[in-house]
Amino acid sequence: MTDTTRGRTAVDVAALAERSIHLITSLQTSEGAYPASPTFSAYVGYSWLRDGSFIADAASAMGEIASADRFYDWCADVIGRRADTIRAIVDEARAGHPAPAARMLPARFTFSGGDGADEWWDFQLDGYGTWLWALVEHLVRHGLDGARYREAVALSVEYLLASWRRPCYDWWEEHAKHVHVSTLACIAAGLSAVAGAKLVDAEQAEHIRSEVSALKALIAAEGIADGHLIKWLGSTAVDGSLAAAIAPLGIVEPGSELARRTVAVLESHLTVDGGVHRYLGDTFFGGGQWPLLSCFLGLAHLADGDRQRADELFEWAASTATTDLDLPEQTSGHLIAPGMRQEWVDRWGPVATPLLWSHAMFLRLGIALGRIPATDTEGPIR
Ligand code: BGC
Repeated sequence: MTDTTRGRTAVDVAALAERSIHLITSLQTSEGAYPASPTFSAYVGYSWLRDGSFIADAASAMGEIASADRFYDWCADVIGRRADTIRAIVDEARAGHPAPAARMLPARFTFSGGDGADEWWDFQLDGYGTWLWALVEHLVRHGLDGARYREAVALSVEYLLASWRRPCYDWWEEHAKHVHVSTLACIAAGLSAVAGAKLVDAEQAEHIRSEVSALKALIAAEGIADGHLIKWLGSTAVDGSLAAAIAPLGIVEPGSELARRTVAVLESHLTVDGGVHRYLGDTFFGGGQWPLLSCFLGLAHLADGDRQRADELFEWAASTATTDLDLPEQTSGHLIAPGMRQEWVDRWGPVATPLLWSHAMFLRLGIALGRIPATDTEGPIR
């Protein structure tokens, strides 16, 4: 914890919720992008598909329909502009000469939709699945017509179908030599969502279903060890992001043996009190606990009916807010590699605070728990 965090004192959930949705909507750019963090040196000026999709999902669940719409429109524009690149990548993959990683689509974009000039660990496939999943959640939740997204959806689908077997960087922009189970879950969720929502034609939907079956078969064959999901194919370790495969993505059935065992191992290997580490061996800013991961784990518990544990995780995430009610990317109360913290502070400055994705996951779990009311929606919140 930094000096400004509240530690274990009770947090005013309503005030933090208000601050969270205010940050999300007020920091959204005129183009529709959500900045990852307005102040953190390495993130300034960029919007990630992964962060942004979960942020838009929270905005949508809060009833901020126009804000979520604007983000999905931004995604559609960013992807539509790269139609020629995507077609070339797909053609090369079909011809048996997949494009090198450096030519694959980026993980983050400038607000105006450019690639940006800074070097980054760019080849990450998960966001291209997550935006599809979040888009469909939004359309279904609010009974909206998705016709205007069909072209960007089709391009994203083609890109993922051609590429999902490839190793790439994971949620944490690391370990590019591996195929990551969380990445596969995001891809499966996105592809299944658009096939189910009829955003693609019947023939393409059928093709998607068979590829998703193959993807799930791969997870079943190589993405499980000792009864739980693993960080990457062939690993034995877990990663905090795996909770998302259970909820909200629903790729692993909540309550199944696989889900229960995965949650149990995430609890025993990565969770201290209510704070969840990314993975054992994490050294980024000393490898602290990430409030957004507490919220994903809370969603997974809640999906299996364990409201009490979900509540505890929610409280822990809320307790990481600063006195200004900003949620950080991670906390320093329990570090895996304390000796590495200063090196990152020297390189990039203090931990990203506020991190909009943390605020989004706090809202998303709070709504699911019924502790945060949506502002303006008709019908049940999903
Ligand atoms: C995290 C990513 C995240 C990015 C922007 C990185 O440090 O590892 O998951 O997308 O920050 O928030």
